[in-house]
Amino acid sequence: MCGIMGYIGKGNAIPVIVDGLARLEYRGYDSAGIAVYRPDNDASEAYLQVTKKKGRLADMVDALGDAPASQLGIGHTRWATHGVPSDKNAHPHTDCSGNIALIHNGIIENYAPLRKQLMLEGHDFVSETDTEVMVHLIEKYYEDSLEEAVRKALGAVYGSFAIVVISAQEPDKIIAAKKASPMIVGLGEGENYLASDIPAILGRTKKVYIIEDNEFVILTADSVTISDFEGNPVEKEIFEVTWDLELAEKGGFEHFMLKEIHEQPEAIRKTIAGRINDGMVDFADLDFNDVLKKINKIFIVACGTAYHAGLVGRLAIEKLAGIPVETDIASEFRYRKVLWQPDDLMIVISQSGETADTLAALREAKSHGIKVLAVTNVVGSAVAREADRVIYTHAGPEIAVASTKAYSTQLVVMYLLAIYMANIRQSYDQDKLKGLTHEMCYLDTMVEQVLKENDALKALAGKYRDVQDTFFLGRGLDYAVAMEGALKLKEISYVHAEAYAAGELKHGPLALIHQDVPVLALITQDKLVDKSMSNIKEVKARGAVVIAICKENLQESCQECDEQILLPRVNPLLAPIISVVPLQVFSYYMALYRGADVDKPRNLAKSVTVE
Ligand code: G6P
Repeated sequence: MCGIMGYIGKGNAIPVIVDGLARLEYRGYDSAGIAVYRPDNDASEAYLQVTKKKGRLADMVDALGDAPASQLGIGHTRWATHGVPSDKNAHPHTDCSGNIALIHNGIIENYAPLRKQLMLEGHDFVSETDTEVMVHLIEKYYEDSLEEAVRKALGAVYGSFAIVVISAQEPDKIIAAKKASPMIVGLGEGENYLASDIPAILGRTKKVYIIEDNEFVILTADSVTISDFEGNPVEKEIFEVTWDLELAEKGGFEHFMLKEIHEQPEAIRKTIAGRINDGMVDFADLDFNDVLKKINKIFIVACGTAYHAGLVGRLAIEKLAGIPVETDIASEFRYRKVLWQPDDLMIVISQSGETADTLAALREAKSHGIKVLAVTNVVGSAVAREADRVIYTHAGPEIAVASTKAYSTQLVVMYLLAIYMANIRQSYDQDKLKGLTHEMCYLDTMVEQVLKENDALKALAGKYRDVQDTFFLGRGLDYAVAMEGALKLKEISYVHAEAYAAGELKHGPLALIHQDVPVLALITQDKLVDKSMSNIKEVKARGAVVIAICKENLQESCQECDEQILLPRVNPLLAPIISVVPLQVFSYYMALYRGADVDKPRNLAKSVTVE
């Protein structure tokens, strides 16, 4: 996610901000910017000097040149969500007068109507970002108090945000507000800091306020005032940071993978944000309805974890939208004879948007005149640029090689798309589609609930840490998740893991089952539970230990399993988003116990740009 750093005090803001942003670089970004206060002098009135550059932080520093010192400034590293990486889209954004500058992490969900309205009122927009509406709103409400203007602007937006604002008119303060995006205040002597994360201020202070949702901050060189959005004071305890840089970068988690597993509820919220209107999924802004309405067949093409998301996508689209779907591995798809028909659609799924085989498959489709819709996490990536339309997952940067939050947000997009297509094609009962849309809004809390099983999963991994082989079984959507679970286990813990369709086991692999081969069984599909139990009995009869990942309401049926990890009741169609979580956590601890390099597994790369 983007990085934020602000400074006010007796020192020079510029090196403090640049250094803070550099400490956040590990998270990935595509552009950087800074706004610093320049006081009145003989030649000019007070103003804000803004420097923004696409590319590395060092490019922005070069552009800034030998700038004189300043006692007030804000800086930002952007990881694009709305609008491609560019100088113009980089933060800070300014109002029409250039007197107010703002940086923002998160997504302003209702930016489109606000932007339209502000433009009608005469505001000039220069970027494609959602963020820019916020600074123009503040300008609109500004009379003589930046604080009041920001409070009013907050009342007009919804979404997730950590915003930090300064004004040339009120250079004695920084104003900030937070909702669903991280923010901290660092406390110095005669100087104070604002940042998105602790690493940014490490080495300057160990005293920190962790800002919570719906909190509003006024920072001066000597004081920090925190209230809620309505202005009611909030008392806070100082958090003493004892972390070193490495631990701080991982948000206090031992590895990026665990951090990213725990970021899933927030990532899911961000993926859904702005895509549901009046209780129904809304992708009207894709401007693709004419294509989606007449699709003949869909080819979903992807690699690795993204391919597994495509398998779930296939089942969801077929069930809801009634369109035939084939899901294929990109490196296979490229070399087979595809029987294209006019009105076919290709959906490519790629976290990085740069995977060579996925990109080649996309080009192959385009060369046949087939429309391509990309689902990716990286704005402006090759896949995003070359596809006809793109849906971003908004998972934020994923650093661990093993994909976790990228997968769950890819699933969210596939469900949203399936529901949307079903709605515009009228292929499924409207009330049921609304019910599903409603349930999607609870997926984040369900994932939070499953994450509470951390210790139980850790203990389970401790118990089975020395196994050589494992099987993951499931039927239907559970089989698709079994494939992802097995991939997670093998890629980070190096334990041999095989995913099998539960009903297919007896046609061969059952010969491999014995007492030392634990079987992880996914049981979330209410209608298939009896069939799955028959298969579980088959493996138990061969001495295998069975670990069931099952929904609470199916617990009774799973009594015979040796271990049970219970999941909240969830619509079977949406279950993969929930059931994959314990498999991620289990794999993580297996890798940890076995001494593997969790974030950088041997032989593997995060982005595979070779064929
Ligand atoms: C690599 C990564 C996987 C990822 C796959 C596809 O193998 O290690 O985590 O699923 O590439 O990458 P993409 O960026 O296209 O989703």
